[in-house]
This record gives sequence, structure tokens and C-alpha cells, in this order.
Amino acid sequence: MSELDRLMTSDARREDSDIETSLRPHTLADYIGQEQTKKNLKIAIEAALTRHDALDHILLYGPPGLGKTTLACIIASEMGQNIRITSGPAIDRPGDLASILTNLSQGDVLFIDEIHRLSRAVEEVLYSAMEDYALDIMIGKGPTARSIRLDLPRFTLVGATTRAGMLSAPLRDRFGISYRLEMYTPEELAKITARSARILKVEAEPAGLSEIASRSRGTPRIANRMLKRVRDYAQVRYDGRITLAVAKEALDLLDVDPLGLDRVDRNVITTMMDKFGGGPVGLDTLAAATGEDAGTIGDVYEPYLLQLGFLMRTPRGRVLTPSAYEHMGRIYPSKTDPADGAEQTSLF
Ligand code: ADE
Repeated sequence: MSELDRLMTSDARREDSDIETSLRPHTLADYIGQEQTKKNLKIAIEAALTRHDALDHILLYGPPGLGKTTLACIIASEMGQNIRITSGPAIDRPGDLASILTNLSQGDVLFIDEIHRLSRAVEEVLYSAMEDYALDIMIGKGPTARSIRLDLPRFTLVGATTRAGMLSAPLRDRFGISYRLEMYTPEELAKITARSARILKVEAEPAGLSEIASRSRGTPRIANRMLKRVRDYAQVRYDGRITLAVAKEALDLLDVDPLGLDRVDRNVITTMMDKFGGGPVGLDTLAAATGEDAGTIGDVYEPYLLQLGFLMRTPRGRVLTPSAYEHMGRIYPSKTDPADGAEQTSLF
């Protein structure tokens, strides 16, 4: 494997190629959901094509599994260009980025996943590349050092991040376009699983697919993984057909509850109830108490609990809402006001 291949074969690519490639839509027309983003993207693409120009740099942000890599591949194919895929952690040194950039061709889409994990030194190389399509390289050291400027082809950077807040302002400002990907509705996920079932040639009842959709926490990647596990179950225990009953049995066995909460979600919720009286509790304290990684709780678990209205972020920490207690079959400790996490004082 060449040095450049090492940089381009990122974790994201390997993971995605195993799980998702076969199910990934290749055109905007086949991409389900994210309607607002698709509308804006169509206009930007059509305008760039008409001008015979490269598309502006695009930042995609939102929780993992919502299709950022998929969308980057679609952008390249709708523009009729090639895509090069890498990730923030794969680019260690400014020289790594320089070699990626100098190997791009006119119009290429460069996808950098987890772009918030680029080091500051690497990020600085990106500034002039994005703004001026140029690379400033230092030759030599000390008093005789001088900088030379290399021209780069006009390319489009598509950056993806789960944490837009962690991007430095100079980097964020250099993206002309920025789209926030939203969690999918159960109806959209049911369409995605129906499409995936057709591709995988699995026979499935709409009710079985809807059950998978409603337990996949707004995330196509999870929906497609669950579809494959339910297919296995249907094949081993039954005749291979995914019915409502089969989907329910298989998902119960996977320990995914009717709202899609798994063992980790439930551990986070019950720890907050049992050890912190429902909150407020800080993310790091919660991570230590549950034995989970703080970043994983913040990026993967929290967004769905927030979306369900089970959790709130307050200035004093995370607080559970009455709905979380109701879902877990517990009584809400009414002395706590979920809005500020403070104890209510009685008027009498
Ligand atoms: N597979 C994964 N994400 C998808 C999406 N948004 N539309 C269609 N198929 C998908």
C-alpha cells in the first residue's frame, strides 16, 4: 500500500465498506430524507455545473450514522467528479495533507471525515488550500528558510463532523456551505429499510420494516444493521420472511427496547436516576459513573435521548425529564424541576 493509500484508507471508509456500501444510494434522487439539505444541495450543484466551476466547500455536521459519507459520495457523482476519502485522525502531519492535496485533480471532491480531529498545524495548511487553491511550503530551516507557493487544482472539500462546535472559527468560516443533518423520522427509516430489503433480496412485511425503523433511533446505519440481524433471525428460526412478530422477537433478543434504547442508554438513564437523583450531573461525572466514554455519550447516546425528550442540557448539567421516568416505569421525583435542575421551593 502506498503512502497516499494509507492516508486515504481511513477507518470511516473501512467501516462503511463493510456495512453500508451495498446499501448506499448513489444519487440524490435515491437518497431518502434530509429534504431541506437535498433541496439546497441540488441548487448548489446545478449552479456550479452551469458555471463549469467546482462546488464551494461544504461542511456536513450532525450525529454519526446519518449519511454524511453517503452524501459526500453523492455530491461527487452528481458533479461527475471523483471522490478521495480520508479522515482527520489519518492525517498526522502537514506533509500528509500536502501529499493528498497535490495528488488531487481538477474538480475532485476531497472528503475529510471527523474533520474536527485535524491538528492545528494540519488545519493551517488547509486554510490557503481552501481559500486560494494554493499550498505554502517552507523549504529549509532557520535564517535561510523560504516559503514557496504551489498552485493546486480547484477542488471541493467536503468536511464531516459530529461536533461542529469543536471546529476552529477560521476553518468553519472557509466553508461556503454548511448543512446540519437531522435524525430521520420513523417513516423515512421505513422507506430506507424497504429499499435495503429489496437490495438484499429479503422478503419483508411493511409492519416488520416499520418495527425495525421505529427502533433504530433516527439513524439509517442502525436501521440497516438491524435489518441484517433480523434477517438472520428470520432465516434461522423461521422461513426467512420478516414479519412484525419476527422483527419484535429478534429485536427483543438484541436487547433493543420499543423506542430503540439499548443497554447503554438504559444504563445512562438508570445511573442518573439511582446515583444522581435524575440530575443535574456533568458529562464527565456521568461517564465515570457509567463506565462509558464521555465523547461516546455526548456524540452517540445523548442526541437521541435529547430528541426523545428524555434528557435536557442545563447550565448545571444533564437532567432527566418525567418522560424518561415514565418510559422506565419509575415514579418521577416531583420535587425536582427538570427545567433548571434546581429544587423547587414551596410557597407555604
Ligand atoms: N441508506 C442509508 N442511508 C440512506 C438514505 N438516506 N436514503 C436511502 N438509503 C439509505
